[in-house]
Amino acid sequence: MEELDRVILQNRFLKIFDEKISDERDGKEALRDWLTGDECDFFTAPASTRYHGNYPGGLCEHSLDVYDMAVRLTETFSEEIRRRYLVLNRPYNRQDFMESLAVACLFHDLCKVNFYTMRTRNRNAAYVVDEQLPFGGHGSKSVYILSKYLKDLKDEEAIAINCHMGFSRSEDNSLSIGDSFYYSPLAWIVHTADSAATFLLDRSAEEE
Ligand SMILES: [Fe+2]
Ligand SMILES: [Fe+2]
Repeated sequence: MEELDRVILQNRFLKIFDEKISDERDGKEALRDWLTGDECDFFTAPASTRYHGNYPGGLCEHSLDVYDMAVRLTETFSEEIRRRYLVLNRPYNRQDFMESLAVACLFHDLCKVNFYTMRTRNRNAAYVVDEQLPFGGHGSKSVYILSKYLKDLKDEEAIAINCHMGFSRSEDNSLSIGDSFYYSPLAWIVHTADSAATFLLDRSAEEE
């Protein structure tokens, strides 16, 4: 990815962050300061070492891909989502849902911040894992990091992030993943969007 494209993605991410997440959210500013500060490599990090988004800016690009896929899924299933909350006997407000969708999608892979480093061997540079915070889980680590800044993280946002890997990584969930998806349409949307962004989009750097 060209540096200019990386900056364009960063600006788009911050625009969605600024516009879709309410200023009332406790810790929004602290989260933004951390994201854009020197301690955090979110906007330059890759999304993986060898697979999707394995280049600088890959993590931000993937997070935006998941957001875009989730918005599309929400449009497709808008009526089912509304009815599902009715059945669950929980209030549904589309604007709040879209805010939670932005929170969960933009930050579902926060566990990959300060997680990769570039190493050169035999003149070949490649990303390797260099874990700075060995928390253990994948989704749960993202929830933990996000909650350090966003103090009013909602239950469904935390569930959606924790369960975003679905059945492929269930160590973060003591119940069946299905129970979480039954409880939270948001969680199912975020998981499905992550899966679509990972497996349907061509986001790999070419192998040398
Ligand atoms: Fe993930
Ligand atoms: Fe992801």
